[in-house]
Amino acid sequence: MTPTLTIAVSKGRIFKDALPLLAAAGVVPQEDDLESSRKLILDTTLPHVKLVIIRAADVPTFVENGAADLGIAGKDVLMEFDGEGLYEPLDLRIARCRLMVAGYPDRPLPAQRLRVATKYVKTARRYFAAQGKQAEIIKLYGSMELAPIVGLADVIVDLVDTGNTLRANGLAPLENIAEISSRLIVNKAAMKIKHQLVKNFVERMAAAVANE
Ligand code: ATP
Ligand code: PRP
Repeated sequence: MTPTLTIAVSKGRIFKDALPLLAAAGVVPQEDDLESSRKLILDTTLPHVKLVIIRAADVPTFVENGAADLGIAGKDVLMEFDGEGLYEPLDLRIARCRLMVAGYPDRPLPAQRLRVATKYVKTARRYFAAQGKQAEIIKLYGSMELAPIVGLADVIVDLVDTGNTLRANGLAPLENIAEISSRLIVNKAAMKIKHQLVKNFVERMAAAVANE
């Protein structure tokens, strides 16, 4: 009997963008109305393949612990998660944006201790440390753009795509930290134990990306 393959996918934007790639790889969720579905585990057209739809930041945890064999997560989330039990064999080239430092375009920054609001605490700490800059990192869970406006921080570290969110709040991109896109990740044990199945899926996804 074919062993099952469980794929954890970030809900929302990444799930939506991953659907055409998954379909090209032969995996279509068997759900009449995906938009309104409240199901967390989805059967697919391949009887041995299941999708689990979870919060973006939880995908690496599921995959590292073997709760899912594979996952689809943003590079931003993977940079923030320093796990050992993951392979990252494929850039899916979806949900592309940049992780940036942003702030007021015309305001000088403090020379001493920069206050940085972000949900990417480890990545921001690494980035400023690598630059030899002292930074106080203030953890927020959303609406980072508010922080400079209300005087909570000097700058933010957040995702930027069109720049509309920054502009709408009087802010501008200042420095690029990383180019972000979604990646296919694989549990290390699954890569060994279910090698053929995993390899086959990764290859089909790679072909789907190449055909985009
Ligand atoms: P949650 O809803 O679980 O709190 P979230 O709000 O970060 O997570 P999304 O906004 O759907 O969820 O973002 C999920 C992923 O999509 C991010 O980790 C990033 O990789 C990518 N992403 C986020 N914003 C953009 C954007 N504006 N353009 C392109 N990709 C983006
Ligand atoms: C993301 C991100 C930025 C915005 C950037 O938020 O957190 O706020 O996109 O995109 P832009 O440069 O095109 O404006 P999202 O729209 O996912 O909403 P969220 O805050 O609920 O995650």
